[in-house]
Amino acid sequence: MMYKKIICIITLFSCSFKTFADEGMWLPQLLQTLNEKEMKKMGMKINASDIYNINKGSLKDAIVSLGGFCTAEVISNQGLLLTNHHCGFDAVQNHSSIENNYIQNGFWAYNKQQELQNPGLFVSFIISIDEVTNSILKDIKSSMTEKERQSIIDKNIAQLKKDHKKESYQDLIIKPFFEGNKYYLFVTETYKDIRLVGAPPSSIGNFGKDTDNWMWPRHTGDFSMFRIYADKDNKPAAYSPNNVPYTPKRSLNISLKGMKEGDFTMVFGFPGKTNEYLSGSAIEQIMKVNDPTKINIRHEVLDIMKSFMVKDEATKIQYAAKYANIENAYKKWQGEVLGLTRSDALQKKASYEKLFSSKIKSNPAWESQYGRILQDLSNEYKNIEPYALARDYYNEIMPRIEIFNTASVLNTLLQSYSKDIETKNDSKGKSLAKLEDIFKEYNPALDQQLFEKLMMIYVNNQSADNISPLLKQWLTTKDIHAIANDIYTSSVMTTLENIKGIVKNEPNTTIDLIKNDNLFKLYTDITETYNTQVASPLSMLQTNINKLQRNYMQAQLDVFKNKNFYPDANSTLRVTYGNVKGYQPRDGMKYHFYTYMDGIMEKYKAGDYEFDVPQKLIDLYKAKDFGRYGVNGRQPVCFIASNHTTGGNSGSPALDAYGNLVGLNFDRVWEGTMSDLNYNPEICRNVMVDIRYVLFIVDKYAEAKNLIAEMKIVE
Ligand code: ARG
Ligand code: GLU
Repeated sequence: MMYKKIICIITLFSCSFKTFADEGMWLPQLLQTLNEKEMKKMGMKINASDIYNINKGSLKDAIVSLGGFCTAEVISNQGLLLTNHHCGFDAVQNHSSIENNYIQNGFWAYNKQQELQNPGLFVSFIISIDEVTNSILKDIKSSMTEKERQSIIDKNIAQLKKDHKKESYQDLIIKPFFEGNKYYLFVTETYKDIRLVGAPPSSIGNFGKDTDNWMWPRHTGDFSMFRIYADKDNKPAAYSPNNVPYTPKRSLNISLKGMKEGDFTMVFGFPGKTNEYLSGSAIEQIMKVNDPTKINIRHEVLDIMKSFMVKDEATKIQYAAKYANIENAYKKWQGEVLGLTRSDALQKKASYEKLFSSKIKSNPAWESQYGRILQDLSNEYKNIEPYALARDYYNEIMPRIEIFNTASVLNTLLQSYSKDIETKNDSKGKSLAKLEDIFKEYNPALDQQLFEKLMMIYVNNQSADNISPLLKQWLTTKDIHAIANDIYTSSVMTTLENIKGIVKNEPNTTIDLIKNDNLFKLYTDITETYNTQVASPLSMLQTNINKLQRNYMQAQLDVFKNKNFYPDANSTLRVTYGNVKGYQPRDGMKYHFYTYMDGIMEKYKAGDYEFDVPQKLIDLYKAKDFGRYGVNGRQPVCFIASNHTTGGNSGSPALDAYGNLVGLNFDRVWEGTMSDLNYNPEICRNVMVDIRYVLFIVDKYAEAKNLIAEMKIVE
């Protein structure tokens, strides 16, 4: 680091855009060309072809996207999967009740018959990745409008999918990279019979809850286990009791050696979304407008939810997953603003842009093509600001109020009633299933309070044009509390029984009953107001920005030819690598890179919502009964490294220099969450649970020896 700093001072600007070794989410098939040399210099002992190889089993064959939102990895030759507790949490919650509270007590299958099926959950393997830019951008001309451009791209994608060979059980996915300047094709295989195998109690799997979330030092055993089932030919199949455990092409070996400071690590998974190549004008808006708005709204939502959850055990279970999700981004955005501010991200962007502009000026072709781009971006971001703000209000408010979610499902149902009979019947079933899910996690009194609070934010904090005329009119005669009382007592849509009764009718009767409902009227008025006042101008402006952003990306690729660019995360498979190391969160403070169970006992508070732990864990700790997983009488728990990760990397394996599994990625540190917009090697760290803590919990705490016996442990 010191070395880098000195060079930076000497060459001043040139470092502001250097990709530091730790930065980057790299495409696995390009590692050999772009990264292998550097990875080896940083300590990697295997070859890029051990990570990605389409001709023989490689590490990539052990990595899956879990449900499209997390990552998981195969850790036995019987399809056993490891992922985070918070990734499997929805499944755990769905199987939980007051009598069988797996959230609280954990769940372990001691044989395969006890494993629990999870309708809707799936995992996808990546079979191959190929660049297809030329086929997809064929016939595209720079004079085209964005609409013309997109329609040709869509046609080219459809054609390529038709022409490309694949097996019947495979899918083809084609995605844009570098803001649409490149395209890659993924051949995938998706398994749909995924069973829950094990999860520790929340007091271990989510130890420290919201207080510790996004924080270091950390002591969370954030893991759960699933198993992939396949048909008798080992191919994807819908759930069936006759399915058998999947035999993988490759599973990960586990190392119990642990990590030392400076050791090489890599994280292999499906990062969701980053925006590393935005202009300073865009970053400024996120920091000063969008993040603060969303943070404020979520603050109110969480307060209300919490006040109900602490009073009632059933509500606590019902709202647990929702609460955790809302809180998660709420806290992350706060860290993001803090990190961007402290690391002077705007100043860094400004120097980068200054250098960019001076390079552009030195080349007449660039000057005519890209000369105005930064100014144009800045203007368009100014134009979009009020609409983006209105979008934030709408997106943060509407989904939080469950009766609006109900109305939205019914709205989709009504639309299908104008279609053929088959569509009608199909969507009736689907709508009812969705409503079942909504009402399972619905507390009317809580929802009404959210409605009152959020509707007043909606009315008071926005320009008058964006507010529903109907609501404004109601508010001239009644206050929001009276309006809410009317709706929650008289609407036909506030109980599942009522709704079931309504949709039993003939379509026309159903349509009348729903359309005359006050709640439905309000929902429609709010969404229509939003669509005309906000969504359509927003989408026009966004199209302009996307085009500028695409050109700006191409410009950066052209101008900084020698820089190794990595594409922003887009939920595709990536490798990120770095070294195990601590960091300095603030002046005068230094964080160590490892935590131990001693820290759990330091934080332990009996009976506490966040920091209680099961008695058995305390007993094992006191007896120092760590089995083969402890070192020198201490049990390691978590560690940090400089891998560049983001949401979606949860559940990703942390691998050592030999490609052995040493940990499980589950978080980033608070001061570094800005890495989605601006990675800074000084303070950006990913947080992993040590595999030895995972195995200690499975083996010593849960005594699920059956699972340990399946794994391949290399010592
Ligand atoms: N911050 C981690 C992630 O972004 C973990 C979230 C789950 N934990 C929680 N307390 N909400 O997803
Ligand atoms: N917990 C995150 C996830 O669910 C990973 C942490 C991050 O955003 O880096 O993917």
